[in-house]
Amino acid sequence: MCGIVGYIGNKKAEPILINGLYKLEYRGYDSAGIATIEKDAIKNIKNKGRVSDLEKTDGIENLEGTIGIAHTRWATHGKPSSINSHPHLDNSKHFAVVHNGIIENYADLKAFLEKQNYTFLSDTDTEIIPNLIHYNFVQDKKDDNFKFLRAVKNACYMLKGSYAIEVISDYFKDEMIVVRKDSPLVIGKGINENYISSDIPAILSYTKDFYLLNDNEFAKLTRENIEFFDENLVKLEKAPINISWNPLAAEKDGYEDFMLKEIYEQPRAIRETIWAHLPEISKCQMDELNFSKEYLEGLEKIYLVACGTAMHACLVAKNMLENICEIPAEVDVASEFRYRNPLINSKTLCIFVSQSGETADTIAALKLSKSKGAKTVAISNVSGSSITREADYTIYTHAGPEIAVASTKAYTSQIALLAVLTIYFAEILERNPVQVSNLKEELYCLPEKITDTLKCSNRVKSFAQKVYKEKDIFFLGRGVDYAASLEGSLKLKEISYIHSEAYASGELKHGPIALIEDGVTVVSVITTPSLVGKSISNIQEVITRGAKTFIITNQDLEGHTFDEVISIPKTSSYVSPILSIIPLQLFAYYISKEKGLDVDKPRNLAKSVTVE
Ligand code: F6R
Repeated sequence: MCGIVGYIGNKKAEPILINGLYKLEYRGYDSAGIATIEKDAIKNIKNKGRVSDLEKTDGIENLEGTIGIAHTRWATHGKPSSINSHPHLDNSKHFAVVHNGIIENYADLKAFLEKQNYTFLSDTDTEIIPNLIHYNFVQDKKDDNFKFLRAVKNACYMLKGSYAIEVISDYFKDEMIVVRKDSPLVIGKGINENYISSDIPAILSYTKDFYLLNDNEFAKLTRENIEFFDENLVKLEKAPINISWNPLAAEKDGYEDFMLKEIYEQPRAIRETIWAHLPEISKCQMDELNFSKEYLEGLEKIYLVACGTAMHACLVAKNMLENICEIPAEVDVASEFRYRNPLINSKTLCIFVSQSGETADTIAALKLSKSKGAKTVAISNVSGSSITREADYTIYTHAGPEIAVASTKAYTSQIALLAVLTIYFAEILERNPVQVSNLKEELYCLPEKITDTLKCSNRVKSFAQKVYKEKDIFFLGRGVDYAASLEGSLKLKEISYIHSEAYASGELKHGPIALIEDGVTVVSVITTPSLVGKSISNIQEVITRGAKTFIITNQDLEGHTFDEVISIPKTSSYVSPILSIIPLQLFAYYISKEKGLDVDKPRNLAKSVTVE
């Protein structure tokens, strides 16, 4: 939540910062701001609304500075307004700060600073930071090359919470200080210029060489140099990593929206995710993991922990792990798991799934599992993300940068990778070879089947045009189709703002059926052969009560009448949501478009949830 970007070099900073903000806008879009060091002072321009509003704000075109910081906000403390926007300056106006995260003890620190006669303009937690820096700066009687860094470090020592911070000062016109704790921050290395960002794609068009800061690490940047320090300001050596992503992967590439582009990228995303670990003919290879047969045989339980869409991918994987590997698997929402004292020991394997690798609850759940003696595996889409640095082992999905707030290709790639992981475990355990070989076959065919499934787009669009004004839309499914329904319903509510619930079809009669009335739309996913009859009976029950029905199926449902049926290719039930979700992603997309909404940046949401 919130995006930060920074530049220090010889070019005008403003266009680089604005360009970075546009790319980070998915992280929050309540307000935006920029501060640069001009000839005689820091110039700070900020505005409520989007980056496009900031770009139109008076004076922005006059910024000439070659050092600057910028921010796009997802409001936590203080409503979206110009005054609450970042950057924030201290009372003396010599220090400017942008911040992503939450300062938990800000009320105490504000009271402390008020006693020292500091005053505050905004309702934010962030405004205490430049003032704390100023406070520590004036307390420090030493005058050396590290005075600015020391002031930031001493201020951070007083903070509790999460933060990625960039600081500039017109006392130090050729320096920028950055620090992170539990919020993401990357440093891009150029030639006589350096970049800061909350994520890699935002600055990928400027450099491919990145440094990753760990928690409580500081960096002091000049145009030519980057120095790293630990929390006690002891110097650290760091090697840059080279990122091979194509910067164009983070562009819309002719599509109207990132979400649509990402839906259509799924054949490639799945192919690359599968082929990275599952070469044809030979056994599954996961060099990143080194689990022995003895260790896997001794496992009492696997926990799959994640949030939102990633948690829905885990629900799909539970069945595979239990049936093929014969290991009990439990799925948990990270925000619940971390506070419910789960039963974990060295015979528990905990798998954490996170596209961004920055979700605060998922990272906290991982740390908890580690502390209780479990081995931890992270599944992420982002190289070097925080979760990958905490986990014992990491395996990557190869979805490429996912920019739209609503997750699509990351979800299907997560299911694909969890299927590969299931095969990897089963091959080591020598369990269920026939099922393993069938699942492998199906995985190889999936990219082509996704391409076929995408052909339903026009029919889905027509149905969306009929129902986009509705207030409630319900989803039904059994087994793995229930898992897909949960994800379809989440997609719909997050980008169309239509109220939606997904129910296990068998639960319908236990309460939810009271909500079904004449004309209400019910979406049902029916792909599990053994459950077709039962699912049809449940659909008949809602039709009888006047519902319109939209069916996604790979079964022959001849003899039954529904308002729309989308036929998808058959595949293994273990991974069928990789196909059945596609019409549902398109359904949510076209409803949102029909309503004229911003598909890629739905209200109140942000792509990576770095606060609890
Ligand atoms: C929904 C969506 C979210 C994320 C969730 C976890 O479309 O994208 O529900 O899945 O916030 O995010 P990651 O996977 O980055 O941990």
